[in-house]
Amino acid sequence: MDSDDSGAGGERASRPATSRPDFGGAFPEHIAIIMDGNGRWAQQRGMRRIWGHREGIASVREITTECARMGVRSLTLYAFSVENWKRPSLEVRYLMRLLRRFLIQERPTLLKNGVRLSAIGRIDTLPDDARAALAETERLTAGCDGMLLRLALSYGSRSELADALRAAVRDAKSGKLAPEQVDEDTLRRYLYDPSTPDPDLLIRTAGEMRVSNFLLWQISYSEIYIAEECWPAFRTPQLHAALRDYAGRVRKFGGLISDSAPTPEFPARLSKGRERA
Ligand code: FPP
Repeated sequence: MDSDDSGAGGERASRPATSRPDFGGAFPEHIAIIMDGNGRWAQQRGMRRIWGHREGIASVREITTECARMGVRSLTLYAFSVENWKRPSLEVRYLMRLLRRFLIQERPTLLKNGVRLSAIGRIDTLPDDARAALAETERLTAGCDGMLLRLALSYGSRSELADALRAAVRDAKSGKLAPEQVDEDTLRRYLYDPSTPDPDLLIRTAGEMRVSNFLLWQISYSEIYIAEECWPAFRTPQLHAALRDYAGRVRKFGGLISDSAPTPEFPARLSKGRERA
């Protein structure tokens, strides 16, 4: 079985996976994915962009199931950004319909796989029916103790930081927060979901080298992997390729190798000159 990487957030409990391939090194507890390239995937096939989103759901289903099966603790998917509201209204409406349908149809699979669903973002800006489906799926899966599937919906990292600052200033004005005591942990407590550890691995599909306003605070020390495949073509073999690549990384969190969690692969990796800051 793979060794654990304790990460910047400190101790993390490791769950036994039923049958995880041996990737040859550390395994990420938290994976975050920027699902890009739906439109391109469809257009390359002479189809309308929205067909790419529809096919993207099949990837969401497959990747979620495989991550849960392998014992990933948290999977965060960038499903709709605050900037996505600027898209043509037909596309936005289609995405919201897909979201609602996904949240309803996936309930049996989520429950069967022990997956708890939650969301981060400006949830109050979603249409009422999507919000209701989300609340109900969160309620139904609240007792699941397997993987956490977090959907980033109407999410933007700058909005998250602005929302956090607004709440902190409010607390400072009412005397609940002393400005001189503000540190990194204080700021984290005002983010949308302070209790989920930071992503160990950030995957982006469709070859783009951008982080697109996604979890800017939380990915400070995440390993980044860019897949060339568009999201609808990103399936289990592509996920395994990302995990093999991750297994070969050495994480130092800005310190020296000796400060990192000791894992058996360090000496081998160092000798290959793969040390990273
Ligand atoms: C980027 O592709 C993808 C999105 C804007 C939305 C992602 C949504 C899904 C995968 C389906 C809905 C998901 C859930 C969980 C219900 P793009 O349209 O920007 O592609 P392009 O860069 O090729 O134009």
